[in-house]
Amino acid sequence: MNEASLRLLFIGDLVGDDGPHAGLANLERWLPSLRERYAPHAIMVNAENVAMNGRTPQQGCGLTPDAVERLFAAGVDLITGGNHSWDGPHAAAVHEDARVLRPHNYGTRAPGTGIATLDVAGRRVGVMNLVGRSALPLADHPIDVFEHVRDAWGDDVDAIFVDFHAESVSEKQIFAWAVAGRAAAVVGTHTHVPTMDARILPGGTAYVTDVGMTGPDGGMQGYDPTLFVARMRDRIPSALDGAFADGPAVLGAVVVDIDQGTATAIERCDPHFGGTA
Ligand SMILES: [Fe+2]
Ligand SMILES: [Fe+2]
Repeated sequence: MNEASLRLLFIGDLVGDDGPHAGLANLERWLPSLRERYAPHAIMVNAENVAMNGRTPQQGCGLTPDAVERLFAAGVDLITGGNHSWDGPHAAAVHEDARVLRPHNYGTRAPGTGIATLDVAGRRVGVMNLVGRSALPLADHPIDVFEHVRDAWGDDVDAIFVDFHAESVSEKQIFAWAVAGRAAAVVGTHTHVPTMDARILPGGTAYVTDVGMTGPDGGMQGYDPTLFVARMRDRIPSALDGAFADGPAVLGAVVVDIDQGTATAIERCDPHFGGTA
């Protein structure tokens, strides 16, 4: 990273709040040494799965005011979301804070916002949280919304960073290629499975299909697989409750270096950065 570069640390879907393998508790513990090792100018985290607000993950993930407070106290600058942004009883309250984003293309009537600007190291980064239509079919078109917001920002931002929350690999790739050279970074979230395709697209857009989750890695996407297996095998509603997975706790994160509005590097952080809690 040269002197003029801006380095952004982005942490993928945080799963679970408390417990030995939980995403939030471990991230709080790891952040001081993560700062030391990667020296980011700003830190963003997708936290749509931090809480279990329903009987099962499908019935309710989302955020709580306590988790939001703890993330900001730990030094996180911006929180992003996804299809679970509106889960749970605290959804409206947590989105009153303009630093808690929900997908901007949720629809014009949705409260809150999916865009923010971060003033870091003398530059202004425009951050957009968008969701793909495979994860949320009723969302507005993500490329149209990107273009509308980019036009509105104009020269007010030095670089654009997108958390693109989507299920399909193709959809993420298509979005990234559609905005290549116009966004400094498009990082994929939602599948919780880290992909090893981090690269710089032509025009200087850092891209990765999925950053991966941060939290308990001993099951399936951070959760105990029992319920999901029963539901697929039996094809009837299950009486089982959802639960978070066991450990180890893993870190799904990337650092992106941006210079003059375009990315010069994207690097995946060590998934076992914090040891094997
Ligand atoms: Fe997620
Ligand atoms: Fe999601």
